[in-house]
Amino acid sequence: MTNNQTKNKVELPKVGSSDQYNHLMKIIQNRVTVRKFDENYIVPDMHFEMIIEAARHAPSGANSQPWHFIVVKKPEIKHEISEYFVKEQRIRAKLKMKFPTPNYKGLAGAPGFIVICSDMRWTKAFPVLKNDNSELNKMYKENAERILLQSLAASTMSAHLAAASLGYNVWWVTAIGQEQAQKDLKPLLGIPEELSVLDILLFGPPFQEPYKRWRKPLKSIMNIDKFNEDNFQTDDEIDKWIQNSRHKVMFKDASNID
Ligand SMILES: Cc1cc2nc3c(=O)[nH]c(=O)nc-3n(C[C@H](O)[C@H](O)[C@H](O)COP(=O)(O)O)c2cc1C
Repeated sequence: MTNNQTKNKVELPKVGSSDQYNHLMKIIQNRVTVRKFDENYIVPDMHFEMIIEAARHAPSGANSQPWHFIVVKKPEIKHEISEYFVKEQRIRAKLKMKFPTPNYKGLAGAPGFIVICSDMRWTKAFPVLKNDNSELNKMYKENAERILLQSLAASTMSAHLAAASLGYNVWWVTAIGQEQAQKDLKPLLGIPEELSVLDILLFGPPFQEPYKRWRKPLKSIMNIDKFNEDNFQTDDEIDKWIQNSRHKVMFKDASNID
């Protein structure tokens, strides 16, 4: 085998062995969101590289890898981004959106701060009818956007798990889809017009003891061969859940949920 072949060889654990699975599950289960970090901690440069290296290996539609990562180190930029979110939060409160918004001031003090950008031009890499404005192509375009966003999520998740594997708590911030957010945030980081800010990954040691949030039981999401109708939730049930449980599952320990 040549050196190149050795380098590109895929090595997985023995089929069916669960040692690595258990190890991975520990990281997955303990990847827990906090929204305030130890502000005095300094992330070693190597950790940024290790985390983005994990993101780089994520799968993507057509292997297009439509992502860019910007490590933010300057406190003044972190502060400005944080201020944007605090402002946005006030706008939402005025609009009576009734979303239990967290305190975005915590962004400014996050030791690990990575802005994740998508390049939507890569939708062209997926099956679309080029230069066609038909209804049919609208459907393909929407599908292409879904593929692209899922690719970004796969990459972002790899980065989050890598951060958790290094012992950090994480915070996934996506509340930035609006056009105004793009206009306000892109110039701060010199992001070209063609790219969009999609997510922000914050990480670091927690300021307070983190807690594990509630998850739906396995049987309520796992179906075999056919969708189990017991798992179907009506619109009314979903509305009630949003009204009565959402704030608890977002901001409380799993033991607080019935
Ligand atoms: C796609 C995505 C977007 C999210 N956006 C935000 C966000 O904008 N602001 C925020 O505070 N948390 C955000 N979160 C974090 C979720 O609220 C959090 O993951 C969820 O409550 C479960 O908690 P856990 O991460 O501790 O398991 C986001 C998570 C995901 C996966």
